[in-house]
Amino acid sequence: MFELKSGNSEYNTQTLSEIVKNNFKAAAVFEKYNLDFCCKGNKFLSKACEEKGINEIEILSELERIKTYQNSSINYEEWNLDFLIDYIVNTYHSYVRKMIPVILEHINKVASVHGKNHPELTEIARIYSVVYKDLKQHMMKEEEILFPYIKYLVKTKGNGSKSESPYFGTVRNPISMMELEHQSAGDELFEIRNLSNNYTVPQDACNTFRVTFQELKEFEEDLHKHVHLENSILFPKSIMLEEELKS
Ligand SMILES: [Fe+2]
Repeated sequence: MFELKSGNSEYNTQTLSEIVKNNFKAAAVFEKYNLDFCCKGNKFLSKACEEKGINEIEILSELERIKTYQNSSINYEEWNLDFLIDYIVNTYHSYVRKMIPVILEHINKVASVHGKNHPELTEIARIYSVVYKDLKQHMMKEEEILFPYIKYLVKTKGNGSKSESPYFGTVRNPISMMELEHQSAGDELFEIRNLSNNYTVPQDACNTFRVTFQELKEFEEDLHKHVHLENSILFPKSIMLEEELKS
């Protein structure tokens, strides 16, 4: 098995700033350890760790983890719905909750520094704060109303009993509302994509500017996967399950 050693890392020859340029997710790791990858990012990782008294191996293992984050060979179609719900909440909802305040802070910072030359940044910051509010409420409704009902349906089927009608009539009602909310979040992020000219950073952009656009891009891509799992797999299967239990 590969053993992490500070001396044999691919990061030995890269500065903090270069590591973030090659993989913007490293920004979150460096921020966690208070390592400056922006204005004073022209330092090698080992030197920066030594100065701050940080264990370099710890950082290297975090950098390895972000490299192997995604696994595209998973077949979600085969998963039980209760397991799929837990996966959505633990992966996608927790990503949104973790990243939304980080990105909002970055975009507000970039807008206050560069807003004069790039007025679209102020509009992006405004739209993103709307996305923040909308998604927080949206996920809460899913976690407190829709998902518990779908889990109840799964359990009822497992017990071989008959399901009772929920106060909202049928699962189709909250699902219709959630689909509309997915659409508006998608539209808002699409507007940000347009305003940022497909997340294109200007030549003179600082690292925080670059990181913010990369974070926004990843946020949008992540939301697409998240919404795909709900709209295309979880929701239609829940409607079918409810129908099956009624008959
Ligand atoms: Fe959702």
